[in-house]
Amino acid sequence: MSLVSVCSVAASPGVTTTALAIGWCWPTVTGRGVVIVDADPSGSGFLPGYLRGANPPSGGVLRLAAGPGELTAEVVLEHCIALGGEQDRLLLLGVTAALEARALSRIWQTLVGLIPDFDTLGIDVLVDVGRIEHVLEPTVLLEQAGAAVLATRSTLAGVMTGLAGLDRLRRLRGPVRSTSALLVGEGRPYSAADVRRELGVPTLPVLTWDPRAAARIEAGEDLRRGALARSALLRSATAAVDAVRPAALDLAGGGR
Ligand SMILES: Nc1ncnc2c1ncn2[C@@H]1O[C@H](COP(=O)(O)OP(=O)(O)O)[C@@H](O)[C@H]1O
Ligand SMILES: [Mg+2]
Repeated sequence: MSLVSVCSVAASPGVTTTALAIGWCWPTVTGRGVVIVDADPSGSGFLPGYLRGANPPSGGVLRLAAGPGELTAEVVLEHCIALGGEQDRLLLLGVTAALEARALSRIWQTLVGLIPDFDTLGIDVLVDVGRIEHVLEPTVLLEQAGAAVLATRSTLAGVMTGLAGLDRLRRLRGPVRSTSALLVGEGRPYSAADVRRELGVPTLPVLTWDPRAAARIEAGEDLRRGALARSALLRSATAAVDAVRPAALDLAGGGR
């Protein structure tokens, strides 16, 4: 199943930047595409930068939820904006405030049901779930994703809440579905090796701590532009994709 949910825990901000960086670096060369879905009920981290000039009036998840007729994968795609000019990396913008997220509980269930259709279209779906255990958490996206990735920081608080978060995800998802962690900035102060050991995970992809690139991503800058494209953050995201994607697409067993 090609649904990947990226989430965070209290004390570990960074999930939106991580989702966008990973989504941007998701390979599309084999004719596949990726849709990044902003499902964070607390309000979009994408909106301020990505609305600027690019958002069609019909766009975003609220318009999608309010739209008439049957919700299909094609209709979801019509409500996305393109990242970087091509149609192979799309972004479905989310809500601006938690108040709006109340209207969305049903749409996440529907989205999960559409994953086989996205698969047929050659599209992987990568979701920014936001911080888990939010009162409006879209739990179905955590439960049903082929892979759930918990982004955490290398602070003591990040590791402690990360441990509890992984535990909850594993209980929610069972032993078969892939549940993993990703580190946002190592050595701040703990090393990736220390965090990996404390979290008890076999591997721990690391996104480089790169405030300049993170700020540019947040501002909605063109990800193809030289300095950003070559940034340590996006280079580390490419490596993280290689760690996350096989489990998400069930490639490990020699599938697709
Ligand atoms: N890898 C990173 N390097 C440096 N700063 C980062 C990185 N990831 C996120 N940040 C910064 O941390 C802050 C919170 O990031 P964001 O992705 O919006 O977190 P969340 O979605 O969890 O609230 C932002 O200012 C962002 O620029
Ligand atoms: Mg966010």
